[in-house]
Amino acid sequence: MKIAVLPGDGIGPEVIDQAMKVLDVLRREGMPLECERALIGGCAFDATGHPLPDATLALARSADAILFGAEGGFQYESLPRGLRPGDALLTLRRELDLFANFRPVVAFPELGGASPLKAAHVDGLDLMILRELTGDLYFGEPRGIVVEAGVRVGINTMRYDENEIRRIAKVGFETARKRRRRLCSVDKANVLESMELWREVVDEVARDYPDVELEHLYVDSAAMSLLRAPKQFDVIVTGNLFGDILSDEASMLVGSIGMLPSASLGAERRGLYEPVHGCAPDIAGRDIANPLASILSAAMMLRMSFDEHAAADRIERAVRRVLASGYRTADIVEPGTRRVGTSQMGDLVVAALS
Ligand code: IPM
Ligand code: MG
Repeated sequence: MKIAVLPGDGIGPEVIDQAMKVLDVLRREGMPLECERALIGGCAFDATGHPLPDATLALARSADAILFGAEGGFQYESLPRGLRPGDALLTLRRELDLFANFRPVVAFPELGGASPLKAAHVDGLDLMILRELTGDLYFGEPRGIVVEAGVRVGINTMRYDENEIRRIAKVGFETARKRRRRLCSVDKANVLESMELWREVVDEVARDYPDVELEHLYVDSAAMSLLRAPKQFDVIVTGNLFGDILSDEASMLVGSIGMLPSASLGAERRGLYEPVHGCAPDIAGRDIANPLASILSAAMMLRMSFDEHAAADRIERAVRRVLASGYRTADIVEPGTRRVGTSQMGDLVVAALS
């Protein structure tokens, strides 16, 4: 069980350290976890001149799973494209063909008051956003900034072929089948041809899944419904850009993006696991970031890449126990709870494991 550990930049290293503390407990108990660290993002650029050094890509390819923190930072924003930290993550997703991005949005009852929405509106919420991760505007060609007749033009291309749509749709139906058997496909088929094809292909795939109830929503309407009636959703399947936006929106249903883990998988079991949040340079190094999304990402890794369901359940139970005891990082603190730092939160989860 070889894990490539890529902490990255900003709060990445401090939250990944907490996930590693948790994995260390399992390793000491005998789970054959082999962890190897490598540089990615801005720190890799500083050290090697490239945000995704060959050694890091090679390690990621050879590993059974990748645990990723975050990447980026103000100082890198004006670098040429291809050298920016975010490009490393996009290249990794694309090179490893990790096309299916699972972003579970689960309201912990212990966090009842953390969402800006009324508690009754979100209690018991359990939805899965399945975001296509290797196509769409993120990768479509042509792209660039060109000059046409003396005017600068920015160009990106929304592009999906039917095979890309079919494979993510299948994952959507399979996922719904293991849950409450409801799939909502989100597109913009009323305006965009690529999304018209999306809807058509999802309908074709649906014929093989008569036991799953399929609904289509336009993305604007889906964004509204996610706030109006979030509990109506089971699995949402959508493209790369819409999934990026909707998953940040959905984080507010549970109170903080600091609580959301994710898994990105391809055709094999190898996956990349990362918190949905970014590098948050404004709070980096201050021991205030929430490490729970990283810890919960490690749990997803154990479950989805290693079939270690009992260990994954145990980590999730430990997180809930710590929350039930009233401990909170700054992003989810409420009156009557006890604020703790990043590292202490990691220690509390470790203590709750045993
Ligand atoms: C995400 C992030 C990334 C994305 C960025 C950092 C490239 O926002 O994982 O949601 O847009 O996919
Ligand atoms: Mg995002």
